[in-house]
Amino acid sequence: MSAGERYAWPAMLLHWLQAALVLWLLWLGWNMVDLPKGAERSAAYALHKSLGLLAFGLVALRLVVRRLSPPPAPLAAGREARLAAVAHGLLYALLLVLPVAGYLASAFTPYAMKFFGVELPRIAAPDEAMNALFKRVHFVAAWALAALVALHVAAAVRHALRRDGTLARMLPGGLSRN
Ligand code: HEM
Ligand code: HEM
Repeated sequence: MSAGERYAWPAMLLHWLQAALVLWLLWLGWNMVDLPKGAERSAAYALHKSLGLLAFGLVALRLVVRRLSPPPAPLAAGREARLAAVAHGLLYALLLVLPVAGYLASAFTPYAMKFFGVELPRIAAPDEAMNALFKRVHFVAAWALAALVALHVAAAVRHALRRDGTLARMLPGGLSRN
């Protein structure tokens, strides 16, 4: 495979950082909502909010990097290429909607929002109805993202089993021949 057919290293680095962060956030989100009220729950929520805002920053950076260095042309053609493009577009859309909805849900609570300990300016007065609305959006988007990520990983595994070079171009040279 020629170097031109691989993703550029910043795109690869951001992809894998974001994959790890998003999986952590999904796990943390589902666990923290079941914790009893107390210090552990507050700490988990604070960490989730900080990591979620970081995830938003990463996806914004990723979209800028994608603009500056566009991905290699798809290996597949026709329907499969269109399906992959739609799935990737949906992944990006959810990666934007999810943190924005989480941020807005939190903004309408009486609690101060912090980014790794630094208090952020308040943008709204507490409002239970708005909080419930954005919590709902956040919940639905989180499940949609989880389902899409499962499909995405299944597709990556299928490509790897076929050894068609799709997984290899998202990995640094020499790490994989799949
Ligand atoms: C939360 C986890 C993940 C998210 C949100 C995610 C998101 C994305 C997105 C948006 C793209 C499109 C890149 C572009 O062209 O702009 C992509 C590509 C890719 N991802 Fe993931 N990904 C995740 C996890 C994984 C995992 C675990 C694997 C492998 C097991 C994987 C393998 C790939 C591969 C091989 C491509 C390149 C596809 C191609 O060249 O057509 N991803 N990913
Ligand atoms: C990619 C980023 C994010 C992911 C993957 C994610 C994922 C999740 C998940 C899976 C849940 C549990 C859903 C439920 O059962 O209700 C959750 C809950 C929550 N998330 Fe996020 N989240 C992200 C970003 C954010 C951000 C940026 C904030 C706020 C700044 C935030 C605030 C919250 C809050 C407050 C809850 C609890 C909602 C409740 O109590 O019902 N999230 N998140």
